[in-house]
Amino acid sequence: MRNYRIAVIPGDGIGQEVMPEGLKALHAAAEIAGGFRLECETFPWGCEHYLAHGAMMPADGLNILADFDALYFGAVGWPNVPDHVSLWGLRLPICQGFDQYANLRPSVLLLGVPGPLRDKQPGDIDFVVVRENTEGEYAGAGGRAHRGLPLEVAVETSVFTRAGVERVIRYAFEVARHRPRRRLTSATKSNAQRFAMTLWDEVFDAVAVGYPDVATERVLVDALAARFVLKPESLDVVVASNLFADILTDLGAAVVGGLGLAPSANLNPERRYPSMFEPVHGSAPDIFGRGIANPIAMIWSGALMLDFLGEKAAADLIVRAIRDVLAAGRVRTPDLGGRATTVEMGNAIVAALRAGERP
Ligand code: IPM
Ligand code: MG
Repeated sequence: MRNYRIAVIPGDGIGQEVMPEGLKALHAAAEIAGGFRLECETFPWGCEHYLAHGAMMPADGLNILADFDALYFGAVGWPNVPDHVSLWGLRLPICQGFDQYANLRPSVLLLGVPGPLRDKQPGDIDFVVVRENTEGEYAGAGGRAHRGLPLEVAVETSVFTRAGVERVIRYAFEVARHRPRRRLTSATKSNAQRFAMTLWDEVFDAVAVGYPDVATERVLVDALAARFVLKPESLDVVVASNLFADILTDLGAAVVGGLGLAPSANLNPERRYPSMFEPVHGSAPDIFGRGIANPIAMIWSGALMLDFLGEKAAADLIVRAIRDVLAAGRVRTPDLGGRATTVEMGNAIVAALRAGERP
C-alpha cells in the first residue's frame, strides 16, 4: 500500500470551511481507487496564529513541512492582519522556499455551470495557465524610504533571471506537448518593458526550438486579457510572469464560472521539495461563517495533488465526480445560483464518487 504524508493547512476564513470537504473527497477517492492511503497532519497556521504568536507559522515551519509528500492549503488572509503581512508570512515563503516555480491553473467550462460568456459551450473553454511563481514582480525586492514624508519613495523591483524564466517556460512547453492541441501562448509586454520582457521573449524563442511539435505565439498581455473573454477557445496553454498570470487567472476563473471552481497547483517539478495544492480563491471574509462557500476549487485542487503524486486514476475519479454533480445541477452553491451549503456540495461529490465506482 503506497502511503503519502500530506500536510494540511486550512489557513483562514473559508479555507477552514472548504478544507474538510476536500479531505472527505480525497479519502473517498483513495478508498475507491485503492492501492494507496493519505496520512494527513493538520497545521493551524494563519492569521489566528499570527495574533497569538506574532507569526503566521513557526520559525521552523518550512523544516516541518519539508518532510511531507505534498501540502494541501486552504486560504490565507484576514482583515485583522495586513494582507502583505499574512501573505508574506505563510504562502509566499512556502512557494519561494520550496521553489514551487510552476503554478498550474486550469480553466475548464463544465456542463451545468452558468458561465458569464454568451454562446460559449462546455468544451469551448479548456486551457491552463502556467504562472511563474517564485520571482518576477512578486520577488519581494524593494523598499520604502522617507516614510510618511512628502518625499516618500517606494521601489518595487521585478526580478527576472534567465534560469527562472527558462525553467518555467520549459515546464509550460512540457505541459503543452502532452495536451491534444499542443499550443503555447506566451504573455509578454516587451513593447513597454524593455528589459525583463525582452529577456522573457528571447528565452521563449530559444526554448521553442526544442519543441517543434508545439505551436507557439507571443501575445501582449493586455490584448491577451481581451482574448480570454472574446476568444477563450483559442487558448490551450498560456505561460506568464507572476503578476500577469495572477491577473489573467482570475479572469480565467471568471469565464468558466468563478473562483469557487478554480483549482491550482504550486509545483516544484523536480520534486526536491513538496508541492502545494490550493484553490485560486482567498479566505472570503464576506461569506465566511455561513457555510456557503463552494468547496469544488478545494476538492479539484486535491485531484491535482493526487495526479502529481502519481495517483492518476483516483484524481480522474474526483474530476469525474465534480463533472457529474455540476452536470446534474441538483446541488448548487450560491455562487452557481443555488442554495446548497458547502457540506451539501462536498457530500454530493463524495456520493458521485461512490456512484461512479467501478468494480
Ligand atoms: C493568487 C492570489 C495571491 C497571489 C494573493 C493572495 C496575493 O491572488 O493566488 O492568485 O497573487 O499570489
Ligand atoms: Mg490572484
